[in-house]
Amino acid sequence: MAGTTPQHTDMEGVDGGVGLTALLVAAARAIETHRHDSLAQDAYAEHFVRAAPACADWPVRIEQVPDGDNNPLWGRFARYFGLRTRALDDFILRSVGASARQVVLLGAGLDTRAFRLDLPSDCVIFEIDRAGVLAFKQRVLTDLSAAAKVKRVPVPVDLREGWVSALTTVGFDPAAPSVWLAEGLLFYLPGPAETYLIDTVDRLTTGGSALAFEAKLEKDLQAYRDSPIYTATREQVGIDLLHLFDKGPRPDSAGDLTAKGWSTSMYTPFDFTRRHRRGPLPEPNDALEGNRWVFAHKPSP
Ligand SMILES: C[S@@+](CC[C@H](N)C(=O)[O-])C[C@H]1O[C@@H](n2cnc3c(N)ncnc32)[C@H](O)[C@@H]1O
Repeated sequence: MAGTTPQHTDMEGVDGGVGLTALLVAAARAIETHRHDSLAQDAYAEHFVRAAPACADWPVRIEQVPDGDNNPLWGRFARYFGLRTRALDDFILRSVGASARQVVLLGAGLDTRAFRLDLPSDCVIFEIDRAGVLAFKQRVLTDLSAAAKVKRVPVPVDLREGWVSALTTVGFDPAAPSVWLAEGLLFYLPGPAETYLIDTVDRLTTGGSALAFEAKLEKDLQAYRDSPIYTATREQVGIDLLHLFDKGPRPDSAGDLTAKGWSTSMYTPFDFTRRHRRGPLPEPNDALEGNRWVFAHKPSP
């Protein structure tokens, strides 16, 4: 396993900085896929991991981890990502079912929902991420001759900048209902970029649209620096998540959406662990303690 590598938060691609976190989640999804009681299946995940030199020695099956499920990174944290994938798969399938035919993945990373989910055939999935991440993803998918089940539109743009025209010029229609996902994204963005993102989603959505996002409520993330999850992620794969997370104050995005007339509900991941009867449960000094999954719906007029 790698030692701590330098962190370059603005580095393009998946070789370092925040782009490497997309591979971390892909490795977790690969492990989840191979579990006998898997919560989500992603046959592409291990191919991303195997294609990237930065993670040549990462596991893609729990059997490859010497301490298995006792490993805080590849056991508990990976299971967290598997559970999150399942919860958001279900959210998309539920939300699209009614009338929405546009899905926007904010910070899409190596998300393969366009290839995995049984969505109505007239759906379009817009995948927003930085150019280097999307280029790596495309290379791997092309090598696999992977065929998307629905139309898929990569949108290379940095979410810290204005991104509306990047989305609308490739066919996103603000007048039609849409489903949005910000999975494992917002805490990497500066607070004003998150506020802009929430305002923009509100502006680009009509009634019947939905948004799910992940938030971290901890006031002082550094208090968890020595938690098993952050320590293992630093020591085993050289990713210092606390270095990558934005350090400024966070906006109250759930509250902001409620003030704009959306209905919102907030869950802990542990709520879903209990629902599915597998996944992480609370533990002392827990880096997941402040994690919340927010599901928001914009009422039809
Ligand atoms: C932890 S990964 C999650 C990827 C994906 N949503 C998933 O759950 O598999 C975070 C993703 O956010 C993207 N990201 C972070 N900051 C970004 C920014 N400023 N603009 C666009 N994408 C960004 C990263 O490139 C990375 O792919």
